[in-house]
Amino acid sequence: MGCFTVEGGHRLEGSLTVQGSKNGALPLLAASVLVNGTTCLRHCPDLTDIRAALLILDGFGCKTSFRDNVAVIDSAAADRYSIADETMREMRSSIVFLGALLGRFGHAEVSAPGGCEIGLRPIDLHIESLKAMGCVFEEEGSRLHCSCPNGLKGATIALSFPSVGATENLLLAASVAKGKTRVINAAREPEIVELADFLNRCGARISGAGEGILEIEGVASLTGCEETVAGDRIAAVTYMTSCAVTGGRLAVRGLDFNSLMPLVAPFEKAGCQIERSGDAINFAAPKRLKGFGMVRTMPYPGFPTDSQAAFTAMLAASDGTSLVVENIFESRFKYIAQLNKMGADIRVEGRIAVIQGVERLHGADVVSPDLRGGSALVTAALGAQGVSRVSAVHYIDRGYEKLEGVLASLGAVIERKT
Ligand code: EPZ
Repeated sequence: MGCFTVEGGHRLEGSLTVQGSKNGALPLLAASVLVNGTTCLRHCPDLTDIRAALLILDGFGCKTSFRDNVAVIDSAAADRYSIADETMREMRSSIVFLGALLGRFGHAEVSAPGGCEIGLRPIDLHIESLKAMGCVFEEEGSRLHCSCPNGLKGATIALSFPSVGATENLLLAASVAKGKTRVINAAREPEIVELADFLNRCGARISGAGEGILEIEGVASLTGCEETVAGDRIAAVTYMTSCAVTGGRLAVRGLDFNSLMPLVAPFEKAGCQIERSGDAINFAAPKRLKGFGMVRTMPYPGFPTDSQAAFTAMLAASDGTSLVVENIFESRFKYIAQLNKMGADIRVEGRIAVIQGVERLHGADVVSPDLRGGSALVTAALGAQGVSRVSAVHYIDRGYEKLEGVLASLGAVIERKT
């Protein structure tokens, strides 16, 4: 399983170029089986979720290679469209291949990915939307046989929730559907804009990405092209909060400052400084962090749910009280019991975490409950008095490339033990 040992109390200072975005790269990998020919993704993060996605592409008959953060996918010979049950369970984000498979083959064999560490993770919005485009779903046990007997056709679809994954599947399927598709209440995350831009450079005709309404004029086919994956805004916040708990400072490169806008006010309320400076984002922490009142997680451009744990960990040792309301997932507070083992004073009431800031945390043996909860425990350990062991780091490896190496380069005393 592996664990990190962390000796807290070392001030983090320095600069980094943030890894490519996991949540940006995954839909681009899905798009590579939709387009004809070869796709090249530069600055692709080397993560277990990315390697799993490449194995899925191999399973379709694509030829893939991945070296030095460059993924190359030739989908010309792809002739299979099934994702194994256990793969869907292990990596639920593989549902994002659904729209691409239907667009390419008119068929897909997947399973409902089922729940994960942070919640039930239903796919009803994906299914309803694709049905509106002419897809037929037949269930056989946990397997879903998806087909579009008369081809994909454009439709007007109003999402009851701006689901990121459902929006991505709609972008992929509608790009090659017959006619026009309108998606109302579409997700507006930067990763949606990145996917739409990539598809447009492959020949798609998409407008409105990043706003609430997407318009997609289907085209006959798309041709693969090159893309540099954007910086990972969530990983950047992990490094900033890790700096903050040590009273440090950090210059982050390779990230669009605008993608961090929902976090600027909460960071400033906590006493941090965060500003654009040329091609970098300069971040500085105060000697003592302050409670920031309340944040509630919302779809972009609201406060990102993926940074909820990082902020809670940052404020565990601070002056004052903070409230964090988790509106997106139903069980994304599991890491808090682990923080309280480190001396935090946080009470969870349903979707609300009430953080009473304490003087300082102390080292403890803690267990990562999921990807972002795990990285938040490392953040907390960096500011704690003494040594902590954070186990189940395989969760963390799904979303952070060489986390311990990046933190050590900033002055952290952290070691991976297998
Ligand atoms: C994406 O997940 C991200 N994953 C998540 O990041 C992120 O937390 C989430 O978007 C929200 O920003 C990837 O991009 C790979 P959703 P996704 O569909 O697409 C409900 C991380 O840590 N819902 O926007 O699965 C769902 O239950 C991961 O990097 C339905 O009810 O998120 C949830 O409550 C975690 N029916 C809410 O919508 C559906 O059909 C948000 O889900 C789909 C979703």
